[in-house]
Amino acid sequence: PDLDSLVGLPDFEWAARRGMNTSAYTYYRNGAAGEWSYRNNLEVFQRFRLRPRVMVDITKIESTLPTTILGHNFSAPFFISPCARGGYAHPDGELNLVKGAGAGNILYMPALYASKSIEDIYMARVSNASTPQVLFQQVYLTENDTETQQLFARIEKAGSKAIIMTVDSAADGNRHRARRYGVGSADSSYSYLTWDLYHKLSNMTKLPIIPKGIQTLDDARLAVENGVKAFMISNHGGRQLDTTPSSLEVALEIYNEDPEIFKQVEVYADGGVRYGADVLKLLALGVKAVGVGRPFMFSNVYGVDGVKRVIEMLKHEVAIDAANLGVGDLKKIGPEYVNWKSVNGW
Ligand code: FNR
Repeated sequence: PDLDSLVGLPDFEWAARRGMNTSAYTYYRNGAAGEWSYRNNLEVFQRFRLRPRVMVDITKIESTLPTTILGHNFSAPFFISPCARGGYAHPDGELNLVKGAGAGNILYMPALYASKSIEDIYMARVSNASTPQVLFQQVYLTENDTETQQLFARIEKAGSKAIIMTVDSAADGNRHRARRYGVGSADSSYSYLTWDLYHKLSNMTKLPIIPKGIQTLDDARLAVENGVKAFMISNHGGRQLDTTPSSLEVALEIYNEDPEIFKQVEVYADGGVRYGADVLKLLALGVKAVGVGRPFMFSNVYGVDGVKRVIEMLKHEVAIDAANLGVGDLKKIGPEYVNWKSVNGW
């Protein structure tokens, strides 16, 4: 289908399904086991109703979308989450994602298991004014310190501004759907990762290491206690362990029990974000920025233009949804804009 005929983020999956072979499409689409978490990530947003305020001056909402992430300036509070194998959608793979993110001035987190090398991805960065585009590099690590040191050195040299350390993959994801098509399940796996190792790793690099895949209040507290600058709530898009909670549920648990955490460190979240209002609900709890995975991966069947289109669409939806919600300044959104009593008592 023509790119101009797509109206929202979910359309890209439908469009990509026609442009990708079945095993490649299945690798992107896949969730773990019964895919309950995959579906819950999408469905959770409709269980909490908005509380729109009216007669509010919203004329300047668009100018309030820009934000900072770890001190770096971006045009919107959403980013491209790290997803492996960008080459499944387009021969230029991650190069399109980095260029699209650069053009739209949003954060991109390249995955370690990309289809292009770290060096090629960082070479493709777009410069805005005098500063090179900011990327945060995702990693999986082995137990081998020498390998880790070499990897960190490559990442620093390439120009990454942070290391996103995926912590939700202690073992392979149990991916029935992918196995049916003979697609390997692993983004990766390891079980030796502990907070002790986190400190050791932090001493091997000057870049901040941000754990990705926090799924409980307890681990959010531990992350703060262990001195992280930021952490990311994620259940890996429902691809690792089925029936894990969505980011909105985890963020709500943190907000209810220990809301100071959102002020102590930056909290990011991803999983199932497809509409402007989804972004708003996470921001309302204190989440600093929200990641989007699959829609960007699918958009890459259209190359850079597809990636740019997703960014434009989501920016537009965040702005109009905030306006209809009666939020005149995105920085002032708070939990009072959502009824946190979930529909049906779920
Ligand atoms: C991922 N994700 C992921 N995460 C990670 O830390 N390292 C990785 O290599 C990958 N690889 C990967 C591949 C594909 C095809 C997908 C769809 C996802 C998870 C990703 O970072 C993110 O958490 C989810 O994609 C967010 O959910 P949505 O937006 O896809 O629903």
